[in-house]
Amino acid sequence: MATIQSILNETRTFTPSASFVEQANVSGMEEYDALCAEAEKDEAAFWSRLARDHISWHKPFTRVLDETNHPFFTWFDDGELNVSYNCLDRHQTTQPDKVALIFEADDGTVTRCTYQDLYRRVCRFANGLKSLNIRKGDRVVIYMPMSIEAVVAMQACARIGATHSVVFGGFSAKSLHERIIDAGAVAVITADEQWRGGKINYLKAVVEDALGRGETDSVKSVVVYQRGSGDLQLEANRDIWWHDLIRDQSETCEPEWVNAEHPLFTLYTSGSTGKPKGVQHSSAGFLLGAITSMQWIFDYKSSDIFWCTADVGWVTGHTYVTYGPLAVGATQIIFEGVPTYPDAGRFWKMIQDHKVTTFYTAPTAIRSLIKLGPDLPKQYDLSSLRLLGSVGEPINPEAWMWYYTTVGQSRCPLVDTWWQTETGAHMIAPTPGAVMLKPGSCTLSLPGIKAGIVDEAGHDVPVGKGGFLVIKRPFPSLARTLWGDPERFRNTYFPEELGGKYYLAGDSAHRDADGYFWIMGRIDDVLTVSGHRLGTMEIESALVASPLVAEAAVVGKPDEIKTEAIVAFVVLKGARPKAEDAHRIVQELRNWVSQEIGPIARPDEIRFGDNLPKTRSGKIMRRLLRTLARDEEITQDVSTLENPAILEQLKQAVA
Ligand code: PRX
Repeated sequence: MATIQSILNETRTFTPSASFVEQANVSGMEEYDALCAEAEKDEAAFWSRLARDHISWHKPFTRVLDETNHPFFTWFDDGELNVSYNCLDRHQTTQPDKVALIFEADDGTVTRCTYQDLYRRVCRFANGLKSLNIRKGDRVVIYMPMSIEAVVAMQACARIGATHSVVFGGFSAKSLHERIIDAGAVAVITADEQWRGGKINYLKAVVEDALGRGETDSVKSVVVYQRGSGDLQLEANRDIWWHDLIRDQSETCEPEWVNAEHPLFTLYTSGSTGKPKGVQHSSAGFLLGAITSMQWIFDYKSSDIFWCTADVGWVTGHTYVTYGPLAVGATQIIFEGVPTYPDAGRFWKMIQDHKVTTFYTAPTAIRSLIKLGPDLPKQYDLSSLRLLGSVGEPINPEAWMWYYTTVGQSRCPLVDTWWQTETGAHMIAPTPGAVMLKPGSCTLSLPGIKAGIVDEAGHDVPVGKGGFLVIKRPFPSLARTLWGDPERFRNTYFPEELGGKYYLAGDSAHRDADGYFWIMGRIDDVLTVSGHRLGTMEIESALVASPLVAEAAVVGKPDEIKTEAIVAFVVLKGARPKAEDAHRIVQELRNWVSQEIGPIARPDEIRFGDNLPKTRSGKIMRRLLRTLARDEEITQDVSTLENPAILEQLKQAVA
């Protein structure tokens, strides 16, 4: 309620300047309304016009939306295309010498790659993959640092019709192992090292560990890009250096023409059970979402220098690094490092050095940079900026105001973009040359996207009242299924309780009197930690896998920088630790989770009890644990607790 209250009181509004409106792709509310009306009038005609205008088809489609097999919708399903062709080949005659990627390494070294270079690099690598017998429909796991090569690897998979599954370089060997098995990957593409913030991670060693865990016979090849010393032993019949693989390959590679519905990629994300979900995207529908949002929300212009700071390990790096910017022919920044190295001015310096026009980052980065240097942006020339963006979690109005005034100098519209791994592209976000901004609101849905807020029975809630965020009609960039688990797709996103009709996003939200959306947070057991999605169940399973732990429950508590901090309540197999041992065990368990899932999932706090509070039916009382984690007064009914004394134990944080 506190969150709802605070955002309801937000009354500041910002309208785009006349000069921005004048040059905008969607210029003024009449244009935005006209697009919405076009979609409303004839949904199929609307999407097919956009798909024809923005995508180069090998074989044009004649069908648009097919809802017969609800909720497994298909779009443009008799058309054929290649996504890599759309990102590379079609720019070869128009702008071969335009810079596609400006890569800035952790140590500041800058490398540029034109559209022609990129095309050749992708073709050579695609031919290399083919020489390893990788074919259309095969799954390829990519576990790489942010690099030109990561983009090349993804584009090369798309070129030959292989389905990539990128695993974020911060995930552990165990997480990587699970994902390789679930995808049935035939190959893993990795690097010897990853350099971030002056530190080195040995990625190939993690791959080795993952593949050594068994049941990975599907993996026939491991391609290793040499980022560092290259000082490692390759396994003779399985591993090959990237540079050896491409050495004799041709610089052209005929794209594999695939059906519009062909799976371009799967990307694992957290849900409310312990098992991550392999969200599966299509080719044409996904691409269309990426392009239209580049045009509408990022107001893309050919003179832009675009910078989305997301890693390609997350969906944001798929849509707004590897595919969207290249499909529209943009020049973009690829950054290997972290915002705080060598100091908290890194982002601002890079914006100055590369004359970035469009900057897209996460609220957690903004909040940590405010803390480290609220006045730092003023030391740099940020006059090239014309548009700012935010993604991944709600941005609190104060952080919004700082970003808008200090970074954007009150000149640049700030687009707060709500979307998800599953939606593939922006869903609710302001078209910046039209929609008035309110700090903390992601504003209005994109043309053609029918977002709404409903109650438990699936009925619309009145203005101002919170409810479940849903999308009422299919849209092209929606995930098609969960890899290997269509029933889970149906049950999670189109649940019977809501009549099975609407896409259930898993967030709660409300709308204000102007129809603006305000996102309140997740409705399931998913935490948002520094903009990343983590299932509480996943962290619990990791804790319980420790030989020390009998039982564990994980909840989030609000955190100024990370949005949510992870608090774990743990029952050990032995006795509750004495004060002198508790600290050591906490460290041990934190490291354990880091090994099991990855450093992003390491609990911020661990508390020990002889037991966990449960209902009569044995369900852990998570709401009670949330209250305890926040050190708030307990107002819930605890009369059913078997052992009320444990509440006293669980109130104690380990010093
Ligand atoms: O809770 C919402 C939050 O992030 C979730 C989606 O996470 P993921 O699939 O990892 O994708 C993140 C990047 C798109 C959503 O269910 N979220 C994302 N963007 C916003 C947001 N919450 C509030 N405002 C946003 N702009």
